[in-house]
Amino acid sequence: MSTAVRSAPQTIRDWSRAVDGIGPGSPAPAFPFAEATAAVRAHGTAELPAELAEALVDAARTARTRAGEPPDESWFTDRWLRSATMTATATQSYEAYTMCGLFEQYCRSGPAGYQQHARLLSAALTADLIRHELDAAPSDRPDARTAAATRLTGDLCQAIRPGGAPPRPLGHDAALRLCTRLIHRLCRTQPPVLRRIVDCTPLPATTEPDEYLFTRSVQIMEVLSAVAAEQAGEARNRGPHQPSGLPPRLHALADTLRHATRLFHLLCTLDAGQFAHIRDATYGTGALQSPAFAALERCCRGEQALRPETLEAVPLDRSPLPEIPLRQALAALRTRLDPEAAARLDEAVTAVDTAWVRWKRTHRGVARRIIGDVPGTGGTDGLSYLNRHLDTPLLTHHD
Ligand code: HEM
Repeated sequence: MSTAVRSAPQTIRDWSRAVDGIGPGSPAPAFPFAEATAAVRAHGTAELPAELAEALVDAARTARTRAGEPPDESWFTDRWLRSATMTATATQSYEAYTMCGLFEQYCRSGPAGYQQHARLLSAALTADLIRHELDAAPSDRPDARTAAATRLTGDLCQAIRPGGAPPRPLGHDAALRLCTRLIHRLCRTQPPVLRRIVDCTPLPATTEPDEYLFTRSVQIMEVLSAVAAEQAGEARNRGPHQPSGLPPRLHALADTLRHATRLFHLLCTLDAGQFAHIRDATYGTGALQSPAFAALERCCRGEQALRPETLEAVPLDRSPLPEIPLRQALAALRTRLDPEAAARLDEAVTAVDTAWVRWKRTHRGVARRIIGDVPGTGGTDGLSYLNRHLDTPLLTHHD
């Protein structure tokens, strides 16, 4: 264990003391993120030694009194400390573990608009994930994970330059260089807090090496599903006024879902033994609680999206139903279109449903490979639950 990690509790206590001694209007010193992140990762948030946990809980109290608005550093410090101390303060939740609420606030702040921020954030997180996995793998050993990570650079290039020519496949070293360059570029051109997000998240609950892969993948998929929910909302709100703009919007939504699905090729290399430990350490924080997936499904399917399991995990006051779900808005609109426009709309609707069902099938395949037929962390019967809802489309009717 490095000296910085050993001395982290003292460094964090010094920060709290310094900030407590400053008047409310005066600028506070920066939180010692490098030392604190290294220390939390060295133990895992579920297994923090008492001295470190106490220092972090104390710092969290101090940070809360100084928290500003996103994307301010003081806002990030407060949100980061809430996640780091979730087990120490018995406030574990999917949101605290994955930091999806933090990402949502980040994407809503700033001048460029939600989808643009989310697109660049997901690119930065994906580049970081690929870099993390390739850094750990020797360049002369192209195992399944290395191959999946290098293939993902193709998606990254398309995400940065939508509609551009598909990039040629890269080798290990070239993929690593591309990701490193991309992260530097994004951190230079985006709000400074993006550097904190890339360097200081995720915060694994255990010391299992594969937890980085798991948590980062969940984070990226959360950002992508929030984008998909936003795209569905736009289609619903603007579609009736701009019917010709609907098919491109729906194809963009299908693209987002396909992009998320491809991440599973990397995630399915997760070590099942390590995941069993991660599951134990994060029990009760399953993706059934994902606010973004609930928003997407509710926006598209309305009341039909309400299963008892998801309703309990994401109550309606957190993710309300729209007055008219997208599916219903599309059906009403279709009756007003000429046959050619209706055919274009049908094609786009099919593209969304195909991409959605493929996401679900790939997710089910990964779940089967990694946990087998055991109950899910969300309290469902696991694979049987996933099987029951496997082929339910988003936009067309299903009996
Ligand atoms: C190791 C990989 C994974 C395994 C083993 C797994 C397993 C499961 C299981 C068993 C369920 C059933 C609900 C429950 O927990 O009781 C579930 C639901 C779900 N998972 Fe995963 N999952 C994995 C990765 C992911 C990822 C990366 C995401 C993306 C954020 C995700 C999103 C979801 C969603 C949205 C549901 C609710 C589905 C629904 O209600 O139809 N999962 N998962």
